Amino acid sequence: MSHLRAFLARLAVDPEELTRYLRDPRGTMERLGLERAGRHALLTASAGAMWELLLDRSEREPVPGVEPEIAVPQGGSLVVVGTGIRTTGHLTTEAIAWIKAADTVLYLVADPVAEEAIRDLNPHNSMSLRGYYGEGMVRTQSYEAMVEHIMSCVRAGQRTCAAFYGHPGVFAFPSHESVRRARAEGYPARMLPGISAEDCLFADLGVDPAVNGCMSIEASDFLLYDRVIDTSSALVMWQVGVVGDWTYRAEGYQLGSALPMLVAKLIALYGPAHEAFVYEAATLPGLPPHILPIALTHISPVYVNAGSTLYIPPLRPKTLNRSVAAALGFVR
Ligand SMILES: C[S@@+](CC[C@H](N)C(=O)[O-])C[C@H]1O[C@@H](n2cnc3c(N)ncnc32)[C@H](O)[C@@H]1O
Repeated sequence: MSHLRAFLARLAVDPEELTRYLRDPRGTMERLGLERAGRHALLTASAGAMWELLLDRSEREPVPGVEPEIAVPQGGSLVVVGTGIRTTGHLTTEAIAWIKAADTVLYLVADPVAEEAIRDLNPHNSMSLRGYYGEGMVRTQSYEAMVEHIMSCVRAGQRTCAAFYGHPGVFAFPSHESVRRARAEGYPARMLPGISAEDCLFADLGVDPAVNGCMSIEASDFLLYDRVIDTSSALVMWQVGVVGDWTYRAEGYQLGSALPMLVAKLIALYGPAHEAFVYEAATLPGLPPHILPIALTHISPVYVNAGSTLYIPPLRPKTLNRSVAAALGFVR
């Protein structure tokens, strides 16, 4: 008989077993010899019972009575997963398992390795959503078509998996919208986290958002709206290389007047000489990230593309609120 700890640790590192567990939880527990108390804790989704077992605080004796049923959703459902930025390494065990277990996999990913990996995991039921993009077409139109394609599979009763690169819920509209729409129509739907470009940035640039805080903003949003930027916080600016362009361009975006306007707005906040970093995480193994230190005034279309993220370190130290600090005994 295996202990719950060993059973869950096996699922954590073995996507094949996790796939089997998603398809047939009870059968997998029995085949891997999970002891009865562990089966009961999992089947009743009891966090308390699981922790008691995991910490060896409870007797691992058989739980009396009939084992509860587990609800494996039948009919249409949706799970949205991320492939990470560097698929080779970032694809999580549970993303792999859901891709394998799905009746249909619809994907929108950024590189051929991610495409190949998905097709490898579920060769007969995978399809790219990339065809919904059209050169010069407004991206929101394409996203709507992608969401409706995903929903048509869910409505047709399929266990549907939608895969997006990076974290599927970070700067990604169709992923969130399809979860919202599926839930509104009564289908089980959820999103699993993935590794985003910002996660890579924290690792590659050695930035811990705990130190100064970190604001994350989309470039066109920053440009169009009057946002309050705290220059004592770090700033991560997404989509600088597509700023002001709402269409899809396979061959590169026309940044026209939008990028100079963005740079002018940043300079007004930080000054022209403040050093930022144009950042691109490596998408292939063994390659270093692209990190370009650059004074704000020098940012131009030459240095950014659709995959660039701009990191702006804090300009000034954060200001201590002395009365709060004194009230907390932090300073006299
Ligand atoms: C539509 S968003 C997708 C973000 C993605 N879902 C994620 O989790 O990172 C596209 C933007 O993500 C950022 N991005 C995508 N790939 C990147 C990479 N390899 N390195 C740095 N930033 C990247 C850029 O700001 C880009 O304009």
